[in-house]
Amino acid sequence: MGNTSTTGEIPTDPPEFELDETSSVSGGGGHGATTVVVLGTGGTIAGTSAQRGDNVGYTAGQTPVLALLEGLGHRAPVPPGLRIESEQVAQIDSKDMTHALWRRLTERIAAHLVRPEVAAVLVTHGTDTLEETAYLVQRVLSPAKPVVFTAAMRPADALQADGPQNLLDALAVAARPCGLRGVLLVLAGKVWAGAEARKVHPYRLDAFDAGDAGALAVVEEGRLRRFRDTAEVPVALGLQVLARDIWPEVQIVSSHGGADGRIVELLLESGVQGLVVACTGNGTVHQDLLAVLLRAQQQGVSVLRALRGGGGSIVCGAAEVLPSAGGLTAAQARVELLLRLLRPGSNCCCGCWVTGNG
Ligand code: SIN
Repeated sequence: MGNTSTTGEIPTDPPEFELDETSSVSGGGGHGATTVVVLGTGGTIAGTSAQRGDNVGYTAGQTPVLALLEGLGHRAPVPPGLRIESEQVAQIDSKDMTHALWRRLTERIAAHLVRPEVAAVLVTHGTDTLEETAYLVQRVLSPAKPVVFTAAMRPADALQADGPQNLLDALAVAARPCGLRGVLLVLAGKVWAGAEARKVHPYRLDAFDAGDAGALAVVEEGRLRRFRDTAEVPVALGLQVLARDIWPEVQIVSSHGGADGRIVELLLESGVQGLVVACTGNGTVHQDLLAVLLRAQQQGVSVLRALRGGGGSIVCGAAEVLPSAGGLTAAQARVELLLRLLRPGSNCCCGCWVTGNG
């Protein structure tokens, strides 16, 4: 895990194209907020390949975030007077995300958000675990100012790199969020609520979706065209929730043809504290796996059902024996369960606020 922290600033020339003059320059940051802080964590957006044009066999997390910003040059669509700062918080492939880095990144975001002059924080991140990080930051900080994540599906040196446009769009949203608040994801011209977004494609540039919730807005030539408001969200759990050095053991198991409870038996022996079961259908679980999960629940292990795939939300019946994670992906449900175990009593009606259907 990289945890270096370097800072840099890039000069911002006047915008090359028209900006929406009706929205506030300071966005959610209140009167006088003039700085957007860009935190780099790696990902494909900072990736490079040994052979230029290789869109698969590249190495993520190589190019410093300052270089990505400098690469935008005069195209940065920020109003005169807006400062951009950058900080390299990590330089990883996000598949290798750690609990420690989640804590450090959330701390750095929080530290910048409290600065009165900061209008928004932008995070460059790999797409692979972005839905988990965005969900965690939303639940822990529930920020009033925008925290805008962006990423890319092609490395920085690709023949058709999507990172520069995504970064440019994310800067435009961070500078002028047009009333959108909280954790956002800007990718392929669309703006998603960070806690609703999930990666749905391994290769396509437009790789994210938000199931039934849909996109919040699109970014067109630096202007935001909004479809709906950001949803009501639970209050912030606060940074303290991440303070413990050792986080609870929470694992994901899957229900499928031929499933049984053996893996859960092994996890119980090794002291697992939380289990997310990635379910078939509308949150259904193979009877042989269910029997062991119910025993685990009786022994005090927290169990949460999430969907194995698809974009909907579990529709609960009257007599559910295992609680539902609503519309969260299994990976997001794992984050939710981690947070609940880190701070007992912190349950939101899991997934309800994300999808309006728990
Ligand atoms: C990563 O998640 O860091 C690599 C993949 C990507 O960013 O698309």
